Amino acid sequence: MRIVTELTPFEQIEADALIVPVFEGVREERFGAAGLTDAGEVTGKPLELTLIHRPPGVLASRVLLVGAGNPDKWDAAQLRALSGAAVRHLMSKSLRKLALVLAPALAGSENVCAAVEGAILGEFEPDRYKTGDDRKSVERFAVVVEGGSPDLAAAAERGRILAGAQNFTRGLVNEPANRLTPSGLVEAARKMAAEYQLDCQVLDREQMEKLGMGALLGVAQGSAEPPALIIVRYKPAGGGSRTHLGLVGKGVTFDTGGISIKPADGMEKMKYDMAGGAAMLGAMQAIAQLKPAIPVTALIPSVENMPGSRAQRPGDIVTAMSGKTIEVINTDAEGRLILADALHYARQQGCTHMVDAATLTGAIVVALGHLNVGLFANDDRLRDRVLAAAKAEGERMWPMPLEDGYKDYLKSAFADLPNVGGRWGGAITAAIFLKEFVGDTPWVHLDIAGTAWLDDAKPFQAKGPSGVPVRTLVRLALDWQE
Ligand code: BES
Ligand code: MN
Ligand code: ZN
Repeated sequence: MRIVTELTPFEQIEADALIVPVFEGVREERFGAAGLTDAGEVTGKPLELTLIHRPPGVLASRVLLVGAGNPDKWDAAQLRALSGAAVRHLMSKSLRKLALVLAPALAGSENVCAAVEGAILGEFEPDRYKTGDDRKSVERFAVVVEGGSPDLAAAAERGRILAGAQNFTRGLVNEPANRLTPSGLVEAARKMAAEYQLDCQVLDREQMEKLGMGALLGVAQGSAEPPALIIVRYKPAGGGSRTHLGLVGKGVTFDTGGISIKPADGMEKMKYDMAGGAAMLGAMQAIAQLKPAIPVTALIPSVENMPGSRAQRPGDIVTAMSGKTIEVINTDAEGRLILADALHYARQQGCTHMVDAATLTGAIVVALGHLNVGLFANDDRLRDRVLAAAKAEGERMWPMPLEDGYKDYLKSAFADLPNVGGRWGGAITAAIFLKEFVGDTPWVHLDIAGTAWLDDAKPFQAKGPSGVPVRTLVRLALDWQE
């Protein structure tokens, strides 16, 4: 999809379709729509779509009126969804040259950026392995602001970078586990890093053995696929920064559960258990282009959790890189094991602040459903920064408790800690487990098990990988104040 900005009056834009927002309570009479409005077919309610052919007064062949809802509730997230829904609708009809019309009053840079994001995110389909030539795409998407606004092109470019990075993440998450093993993730990271001039380093099994990453390696044992710790570094031109952001993402390319094997029903979805790691790679792709002032390092521990003949067993005791011993009660609680070593290593690499993202627990889906990312933090200031970034990006997150009282839920008679708690508060005990490995470094843990994959398509978004929380992480880095 080619993204362009247009300053000419929308009447003169040539396109297969003009996309025009219509607010509730604002009577639309242009494009011959007065009759539709009178008949109650055009009301402006959110994401209502009305396609008008050969509209009078414009060069474009069609106008798509899209409900924008209550003008008092209007924000960038509304526009992102509107743009995405419009693009998906028109694309399904093989219309390929589209132009979204923004009234000058709506053309702030956040809105222009969101409109472009919505279009690019809306175009994504998880069907790359379907053969045949009926795959649909958009050729050209224009944002039309009559007279222009000072930062129109820059805002559109920002949107292009962010949504491109988010779709890169979605593409990785969508790959099945036979096509994206830990080595495949390494390859993808190397390719992305080379393209965007980032430093990429990969620790292999031997190097991790030397470092004593027993928790990560224990999980890797059951698979013929070798594990990897992927490290991607961004350094700002200036240097001299006191802070260094670490982004740690769970990269389990498939989670069978290991010896504590999962039920067959729905197991195919566990290819998305590397969504946290893929989000960190997407964030780095955007960070390389948008160039925040602080250094950012992504660390992605990647393994396949399999029940092979060398697999670890329930009852095994492993020693993490930090020196703590862990009793593996359930081999399906593997994410926290690999993250324990990656978080410890991130601190050793000089990260002063850390955010991890992981499809960590089914319990977070029970607690928050598919709408909100579960957010845990050991530091109020970093928590507030992440929440502010998430709000600005329209990625919903909800704070969860992480108080010491929950530590009692994690007791082992044989080692420093077990890898699972009891029946209750499963998302919290997972976070409490991670907390044991971050020391006093300010840290936020994002449990994205409920939000990284959409079981049902939305008008503005295909079924499948969502690409959360790429945009939040990029904004966090860009808005960083030391
Ligand atoms: N990858 C899963 C968590 C998950 C569950 C992600 C459902 C997406 C949807 C994780 O490795 C896991 O298996 N967690 C267990 C932990 C349990 C054994 C304490 C879970 O949530 O069931
Ligand atoms: Mn698991
Ligand atoms: Zn898992």
